[in-house]
Amino acid sequence: MSTLTSGLSGSIEDLVGRDEWAAVNALGRPFVVYKFAATLDGRIAAADGTSQWITSPTSRAEVHLLRAGCDATVVGSGTQQADDPNLAVRGNDDPRLDLSAVVTKGQPYRVVVDTNARTPSTARVLEGTAPTIIAVAPDAGADHLIGSPAEVIRVPRSQQGLSVPDLLQALYRRGVRAVFLEGGPTLAGSFIAERLVDRMITYVAPALLGSGKSGLLDAGIGTMADIMRLELLDIARSGPDLRLVARPT
Ligand SMILES: NC(=O)c1ccc[n+]([C@@H]2O[C@H](COP(=O)([O-])OP(=O)(O)OC[C@H]3O[C@@H](n4cnc5c(N)ncnc54)[C@H](OP(=O)(O)O)[C@@H]3O)[C@@H](O)[C@H]2O)c1
Repeated sequence: MSTLTSGLSGSIEDLVGRDEWAAVNALGRPFVVYKFAATLDGRIAAADGTSQWITSPTSRAEVHLLRAGCDATVVGSGTQQADDPNLAVRGNDDPRLDLSAVVTKGQPYRVVVDTNARTPSTARVLEGTAPTIIAVAPDAGADHLIGSPAEVIRVPRSQQGLSVPDLLQALYRRGVRAVFLEGGPTLAGSFIAERLVDRMITYVAPALLGSGKSGLLDAGIGTMADIMRLELLDIARSGPDLRLVARPT
């Protein structure tokens, strides 16, 4: 496995640390890495909802490498609706990106957390380049997804959308040990509120938006007394951007 110039490999063991990774199976759920890209003023999308591309091609190539190191890339239905992402691991034309992990392991699952099955049958995530799971509520009408390459799984509802612990259990039963959560901020807020994020990877671009969503919405933190502190594990340049790796303490 090659390493990008900024020192990141596409191995989840390298990212997590071998000792901590060895303990992952004892978790009984997948290890969760939450990645997002933000401007210097903390915005992950413009006021009109557009978010492509905040960071540089170098950072985006790194993201493909990180995806390849995990077993599932997870997004919320808001991101599916706003960006219609493909979510497969692609080379991004960066010669430094070594996709050998994907070749040997196969593409990670692409997962949309989509309570009411709003993902249209034309969604790019349904293009047959990688296995896809659409997680929907037990009572959601998902007939339009029958015959698509996606597996539709039923996950119990929670107060806000689907139950995140149940979603993780369903993925764990399918062999998923590392989840790469790519947002958006509403879904990530639920993961944080449930204390189900093990690593945060934030790409910060030297750019400003001035308005728009930030990396987390409603993470169940309403007052300074409840602030969630993180331990900063790594800081590196990624082309013109900054990459921060942190874990909740
Ligand atoms: N810069 C970045 O790194 C980045 C990354 C991703 C997204 N984005 C941007 O973020 C924006 C979308 O973010 P978003 O916050 O609106 O959407 P989101 O977090 O992608 O999806 C939120 C939706 O997921 C569904 N959901 C299902 N279970 C949930 C649960 N337990 N908790 C929370 N939500 C759950 C809900 O819709 P249903 O009930 O209808 O299913 C909810 O409204 C877009 O502008 C996108 O471009 C930026």
